[in-house]
Order: sequence, then C-alpha cells, then structure tokens
Amino acid sequence: MNKERKLIVAGNWKMNKTVAEALELVRDLKHELANIKEVDIVVCPPFTALSEVAQVIRGSNIDLGAQNMSEHGPGAYTGEIAAEMLGELAVRYVILGHSERRQYQKESDELISKKAQAAHAASLQPIVCVGETLAEREAGQTEKVLETQVRGSSKGLSKAQAVETIIAYEPVWAIGTGKTATTAQAQEAHAFIRGLLVKLLDEGTARRVRIQYGGSVKPSNARELMSQPDVDGALVGGASLEAKSFAEIIKNSV
Ligand code: PGA
Repeated sequence: MNKERKLIVAGNWKMNKTVAEALELVRDLKHELANIKEVDIVVCPPFTALSEVAQVIRGSNIDLGAQNMSEHGPGAYTGEIAAEMLGELAVRYVILGHSERRQYQKESDELISKKAQAAHAASLQPIVCVGETLAEREAGQTEKVLETQVRGSSKGLSKAQAVETIIAYEPVWAIGTGKTATTAQAQEAHAFIRGLLVKLLDEGTARRVRIQYGGSVKPSNARELMSQPDVDGALVGGASLEAKSFAEIIKNSV
C-alpha cells in the first residue's frame, strides 16, 4: 500500500495475558512478521509482562508499548507507573486516554495532556485516543467531541512533539462490539482531525501526524480501512490477542 505516512499498527492487549501467554503470543508474532518492514508494529501488553516481552522482541521489527502511565515523575504515588520506569524497559509507545480509562477511571482531557507531556519528557511516543459515543454520534456531536478531545489532550505540546504523537480515532460504539465504522465514516473523522491539526499546528506539521483507526479492526476490514488517505494505521484490541489475526491485519495492510 502506497501511503503518505508510514502505517503503524498497535495491539492493545488490555487486561489480558499472563506472562507465559504473552511470551507465547509475541514469539509467534516475531516469527510471522519477521519480513515486514513497511509497517511499524507495536504490541502493548499489560505492565506485568512488559519486561519479559521486551527481551523477546529486542532487535526485532516489533516495538513495545504500554497501556497507561502516570502524569507524575517517580515519587509517592502508590500503584502508579512513571514514564521513566517504562523507558527503562525499552517501552517506546504509551496508549493514553483510552475510552475505557476515560469511562472507568474518569480520565479527563486535561489529565491526558499532562500524561502526554510527561511521556514526551521521557522520550516515549504517546498514542492519544479520542472518539465519540453512540449517543454523541446520533446527536450530531461527533466533530464537536473530537475537537474538544484533540484540543484538550494535546494542549501544551510543541510542533515537534505533536509529530511524535499518534492519535487513535476510536469511536466508542465500535470498540469490542464487532461494529466497525464504515471506511467512509472513518475517513471522514480522520480528515476532520487532520483539518483540526492544520488549524492547531500548520499544514506541513499536520500532514506528518499519524492517525490510527481503532474499533473492531479485524483481518477482513483492515485493508480497506487503512487504504483511506487519512487512516495511517490501526489500534487493535480483540484481534491482537491471537498471533494469526494480528499478523494477518498487518500483512493485509502492506
Ligand atoms: P477492539 O478494541 O479492537 O476490541 O474493538 C480496540 C481498542 O479498544 O483499542
């Protein structure tokens, strides 16, 4: 696939996989995907498996991501994980503001922007998630919601940091539901986000930002979604838990 920006496909394993299961999955992926150079490949295991997965993928074409981090540096924050600690494990990406965290942990755009700044300060690339609920879409508020989330969660980032920030458009109604946005709906939302980035940054910078689509991405729909001009990759949940389906998504996007 000939794309303006290099595709990035990340697997969000969420709260799944023991260390043993994680190692089995990542060993299979390493084998299946050894020849892929055209796509940036990322796996985001739970914190408990990061260290051992890091050792298996060292030197391979698979990068490591975390699913969350603290907005604070090391200190008295019981139960939290600082960006520096992730960096030590060779983590390169971190998912921030996933809709599940926005919903269950009540994460706000302001908090997500603080986390994004802390991630950059530790040389991690944030994957900042945005997306509307079904009620918001049906009320015609999709663009308003996306504008508020993109503006709020990327606040304070320099242009150089913005280029190193990945935005994941994940319509909440498509996550884990089997309902994927149509390619037209995805492209429309991605083009809107890019237009907003042109306003917030500048045309040249906005064209360099990668915007992933997420929400029930599977082998059968990945190619069509990623063939859209403003869809620069995928954030995959359920289908990233098995080597075969995640590898197929990536192979189908090449
Ligand atoms: P899903 O999850 O692929 O299972 O819909 C996507 C996500 O939540 O990142």
